[in-house]
Amino acid sequence: MDQGNPLVEETASAVSSLSEEVVRVEGLWKVYGRESKRITSDKYSQMSKDDIRKKTGNIVGLKDVSFSISKGEFFIIMGLSGSGKSTLIRNLIRLIRPTTGRITINGVNITKLSENDLLEFRKKTFGMVFQNYGLLPHLTVLDNAAYGLKVRGLPKGKQYAKAMRFLETVGLSGWEDYYPNELSGGMQQRVGLARALANDPEILLMDEPFSGLDPLIRRQMQDEFIEIQDKLNKTIIFVTHDLSEALKLGDRIAILHDGEIAQIGTPEEIVTVPADSYVQEFVQDASPAKVVTAGSIMVEPEVLLYSWEGPRTALSILKNARRSGAFVVDKKGILLGVTNINRLERIIENPVESQTKRIDASAITKIPSVSEDTILEDLFGIVSANPYPIPVIGENRRLVGVVRTDDIFETISPNRGDQND
Ligand SMILES: Nc1ncnc2c1ncn2[C@@H]1O[C@H](COP(=O)(O)OP(=O)(O)OP(=O)(O)O)[C@@H](O)[C@H]1O
Ligand SMILES: [Mg+2]
Repeated sequence: MDQGNPLVEETASAVSSLSEEVVRVEGLWKVYGRESKRITSDKYSQMSKDDIRKKTGNIVGLKDVSFSISKGEFFIIMGLSGSGKSTLIRNLIRLIRPTTGRITINGVNITKLSENDLLEFRKKTFGMVFQNYGLLPHLTVLDNAAYGLKVRGLPKGKQYAKAMRFLETVGLSGWEDYYPNELSGGMQQRVGLARALANDPEILLMDEPFSGLDPLIRRQMQDEFIEIQDKLNKTIIFVTHDLSEALKLGDRIAILHDGEIAQIGTPEEIVTVPADSYVQEFVQDASPAKVVTAGSIMVEPEVLLYSWEGPRTALSILKNARRSGAFVVDKKGILLGVTNINRLERIIENPVESQTKRIDASAITKIPSVSEDTILEDLFGIVSANPYPIPVIGENRRLVGVVRTDDIFETISPNRGDQND
């Protein structure tokens, strides 16, 4: 680092604290078959998965995959059956060995670890939740939840105390002495989750954890999981087939197609700018109302009034701008509400000393506001109940923009982007 330039140092550390890289995958190939290494050569990199299989008999699981994941990120892997999702998640923990490429976890190149070091590293860093729960049928719920801690050699008292705490986190206190087959699918899934969480892993790998659940329970698990994640703030890598689940949970989504990454992006990017026809097909039923945020379509208010302005000034500003009303903010930019010509005229006609110097509170109507990450779907109720654009509030309650009703409906219109009416 450049010691002579404190600015460089400051900027570098600010960036690293913002997005500390936990997982980095570079040029990862996994080919199943006899001559797997040969397949990763240039000769085959342009060939499709299907052609490679027909020509050589080898099956491409992953083809030159690269990406990285930051600390605390909720990273989703999606794709059709056979696209390589499980292969990818299993490579990260080296349950499967990569054919070529590099996987770095917390700066450690795990492709190079010895078997012993790998076991230690896995135990310390990862928790894994499998699709079919992976519970041991002859152990009680409590023993199942404590299993990872037992393997790590924790004293029994500590094992149980910790396991109980996480059973409680997932809403299962009272069930510790039952056996897995006495629990519903959703409850078994929670035991699996408690077991993974009890180890306090830095990274949680979840391969279609909710896919065995019926839709109602599944939604409930998703909501609870969002709450749990709010508290624990883990780095999560989560495989799913279900687009609505991905959009709901993910910070970013990687879409796999025949072992290659078709697109990586935020839910909003994936839905609004799909990279190709494969991604397009995935997201065609997704409603932008569920992913597009107020922050991304807000605009600056055309006219803004300041609380210290007199009502006459405010009135002339509105009239000059041919507006019937505008938002009012104070010195710090904090939104106080909205006022309009009628209200201003009323206080001008009935002057009380204090009221004529500045826009009086009685001229301001308090109105609902939203934050930058509110999704459009949650704006509908507000739009229908008030005639103003919706104010968007940022840090310290400051007004950062407004969302106009027209822009909401334009964004969610299925014909958006069409040039002809
Ligand atoms: N042990 C294996 N031997 C040979 N081929 C395999 C093996 N495991 C996976 N594959 C192949 O690798 C590709 C990716 O499989 P993978 O299990 O990663 O898919 P997936 O995206 O998890 O699918 P699903 O949604 O059905 O779970 C598939 O074409 C599959 O046939
Ligand atoms: Mg799979």
